[in-house]
Amino acid sequence: MKYTNALTERLGLTVPIIQAPMAGSDSPGMVAAAGEAGALGSMGCSYMAADQVRDATSQVRTATNRGFNVNLFAPLPIPDRPSDLHNALNLVAPYHEALGLAPPEAPQSGGFDFDSQVEALLDSGASVFSFAFGVMPPEVIAAARDRGMFIIGMATTVEEAVALEQAGVDAVVAQGSESGGHRGSFLGDFTASMVGTIALVPQMVDAVSVPVIASGGIADGRGIAAALTLGASAVQIGTAFLACEEAGIPQVYKDTLIGASPSRTRITRAFSGRPARGIINDFMEAAEAANAPDTLLPFPYQNALTRPMRKAAAQQGKAEYLSLWAGQGVGLTRRMTTQELIDAMMAETEAALARVSV
Ligand SMILES: Cc1cc2nc3c(=O)[nH]c(=O)nc-3n(C[C@H](O)[C@H](O)[C@H](O)COP(=O)(O)O)c2cc1C
Repeated sequence: MKYTNALTERLGLTVPIIQAPMAGSDSPGMVAAAGEAGALGSMGCSYMAADQVRDATSQVRTATNRGFNVNLFAPLPIPDRPSDLHNALNLVAPYHEALGLAPPEAPQSGGFDFDSQVEALLDSGASVFSFAFGVMPPEVIAAARDRGMFIIGMATTVEEAVALEQAGVDAVVAQGSESGGHRGSFLGDFTASMVGTIALVPQMVDAVSVPVIASGGIADGRGIAAALTLGASAVQIGTAFLACEEAGIPQVYKDTLIGASPSRTRITRAFSGRPARGIINDFMEAAEAANAPDTLLPFPYQNALTRPMRKAAAQQGKAEYLSLWAGQGVGLTRRMTTQELIDAMMAETEAALARVSV
């Protein structure tokens, strides 16, 4: 069966699947394998300096001639760091000790130079430029368009999708509340933006004229069939790809995903200061239980504060102190290669659609 439409044809896809950009968790091998399987592979570049972007995307180009997507967070205003860091440092101190690290230091806003990141993405040879967390500055959208790149923005509400369409994107990702990782909300309070994929997709399809890509909680062909039925032109899947052989996450993270219950994920600010969905673990619970003022710092300070802990936990295989981003479809996660997963999901999509057709 063929699942082609204007979006898949424009992107040269033989299957309506986008392997979600997952900064720090995807890999050049996964992006290339997704492309070779007929899907769109995506490289999350937000946690990379420009030269790392150049290196990663050159690895993708060496491994495949297929088009691919590069992704960046839209720039966010950086708030002032709270002046009293006592409670925040106290929260992570015991974990530093348990992991054999020196006591935590005051976090800096840090980050990479946005302009040079953008330049590296524009030079990457990717066919698609996607972004999340807001609207990219108009000059960035114009520069990507000048390169002939297809532009995709992420929205968690109908209003955000309309704003992205007005900004000139070619397609919108509808990020449902089931999604793993950070919430992409940028207009209004994130709690009011927690709309499930099944409600979000058709309302977004009705509100914008560009193609809508369904994302959140889709982890097998049944979910893909549902999303296509709701009017989505494609799906963007994150969590289901995390347990794939090519994923760039620690083995202990992969092991935790397999068989995890969807009731064991929730939205937390514990690791980065921004709301994100992940599997509940010791650090998440301790951070959320702490009720002293400024225990959780705003993004990007909380992210910088917990980075040494997360890095050491990854090296030492300690899942209890890692950010285990995962969506509510986590229980469907399988150990496979990227190619096997895409093939399996397409066979399941066909079977699911056949079950409901007369
Ligand atoms: C580990 C992880 C990292 C993510 N990083 C990014 C990112 O860098 N950029 C982005 O646009 N979306 C990112 N997302 C969100 C995905 O694009 C997508 O919306 C989400 O994975 C869909 O939900 P699912 O995980 O249930 O499939 C990330 C998701 C996960 C699970």
